[in-house]
Amino acid sequence: MSTLITNIGELVTNAPDAGDDAAPAGPGRFAALADAALVVEDGRVAWTGPAARAPAADHMADCGGRAVLPGFVDSHAHLVFDGERSAEFAARMAGTPYGAGGIRSTVAATRKASDGRLRATAFRLAAEMLRQGTTTLECKSGYGLTVDDERRSVAVAAGITGEVTFLGAHVVPPEFEADPGAYVDLVCGPMLAACAPHARWIDVFCERGAFGADEARAILAAGRAAGLMARVHANQLGPGPGVLVAVEAGAASADHCTYLTAADVDALAAGATVATLLPGVEFSTRQPYPDARRLLDAGVTVAIATDCNPGSCFTSSMSLCIALAVREMRLTTQEAVWAATAGGARALRRADVGHLGVSARADLVLLDAPSHAYPAYRPGVPLVAAVWRAGELVAGAVPAA
Ligand code: NIG
Ligand code: FE
Repeated sequence: MSTLITNIGELVTNAPDAGDDAAPAGPGRFAALADAALVVEDGRVAWTGPAARAPAADHMADCGGRAVLPGFVDSHAHLVFDGERSAEFAARMAGTPYGAGGIRSTVAATRKASDGRLRATAFRLAAEMLRQGTTTLECKSGYGLTVDDERRSVAVAAGITGEVTFLGAHVVPPEFEADPGAYVDLVCGPMLAACAPHARWIDVFCERGAFGADEARAILAAGRAAGLMARVHANQLGPGPGVLVAVEAGAASADHCTYLTAADVDALAAGATVATLLPGVEFSTRQPYPDARRLLDAGVTVAIATDCNPGSCFTSSMSLCIALAVREMRLTTQEAVWAATAGGARALRRADVGHLGVSARADLVLLDAPSHAYPAYRPGVPLVAAVWRAGELVAGAVPAA
C-alpha cells in the first residue's frame, strides 16, 4: 500500500549525498525541497520530488502548503524514574546551584516504585514526545543503581524504544560512598551482565562528583566486551576528561559538552564522536550554554537532544531545544533542525532515521507552519499538526487530498 503526501510547502529531507562514497551512511547535509511531495510505501520513503511530478498512489494526504520535517531524533533522555523534584528546581531558580547530588533523591524514589509505576511514567513521557514529533528516542537507566533496579529500569526502557542505554554509572549510590571502587566493580560485573541483554548502549557520567577518567574507561571497556556501544555524559558541570575519554573509546556521542578546552574541540573534530548539546539543561540549571559555534566551525558533528529527566531538565520538547539552540547558541535555523533530526541519528549511529531520503523510515512531522524556521521563530507554540512513524499516522490529522 502506498500513500502520497502532497502539497508540502517545504519538505526538509536531509537526504544522503548521492554519489559521494566518502559520505557516511544515513542522513546527508541539511536539504529541503519547495512545493514537494513524498510517497510512503511499506513504512519507508519511496519517492520525494516536486508535487507537480508526483506518481499516483493508493491514498493521498494534503499538507495544505505547510512544512514537513523528518521526525525528531531525541538521542538523550532519562524516562525511567519515580519521584518529584519541582522544589529543587524552584530552589535553583532562587539561587541554589545545580549539582549531581540531586540524582540520589530520584534514586531513592525509583527503588521504591513498582515496575508498573515506572512503566506508566516512561510510557506517558514517550507518548508526550511522540505527539511533539519525536519519532526516535533514546532512554537511559541510571536511577536504580542496584543490580535489580537497573535491570528493571532497562527492561522498562526496552518497552518504549530500541535505543536503550545502561547507565549504572550515573552516580555512586549512598551505600557505596565509602568504597566507590566496589561500586565500579558491581557496575562492570553483575549489573552489566543483568542489563546488557536489554540494552544497546552503555553510558557513564564522567564528572567531578560522579566517575573519573579511569573508572569511565573501565566501565566503557566492560560494556564493549558485553556488546554495548559507548556514549558519555561529558563536561557538563565543569572542564574534565569526559570528552577525551569518549573520543578515545570511540563513543558515538559525548553529551553536554558545556565546558570544553581547545584540546576537547580538536579531539571531537578529528574523531567520529558526535557532540550532543542539551540546551534545555542550561536553560533549566542557569548554566552557561555550550559554545556550539566553536564546535560547528571546527567541523564537529552536533546533535541536539532534550535530556528529559526530573532533575536537570524536565522538558520533552525538541522544538523548545531547537529554539534555545538558535536563540542562545547561535545555530542557524537550518543547523538546529538538522541537529535535532540528522544529528540525533548520527549520535545513535542510525542510517534509517533523521532524513527522508529514499528508503529511510517514513518518520515525518507536519508543522502548522510554512517553514522549518517556525519552531525557533514561534517558541513555545504547539506547531506539530501531524506525526507519521514508519508511514503510520500516529498523531494529529491530515485532510485526504
Ligand atoms: O544528564 N548528568 C547526569 N544526569 C542527568 C541529570 C540527572 C538528574 O539531575 O537527575 C543529566 O543532566
Ligand atoms: Fe543525561
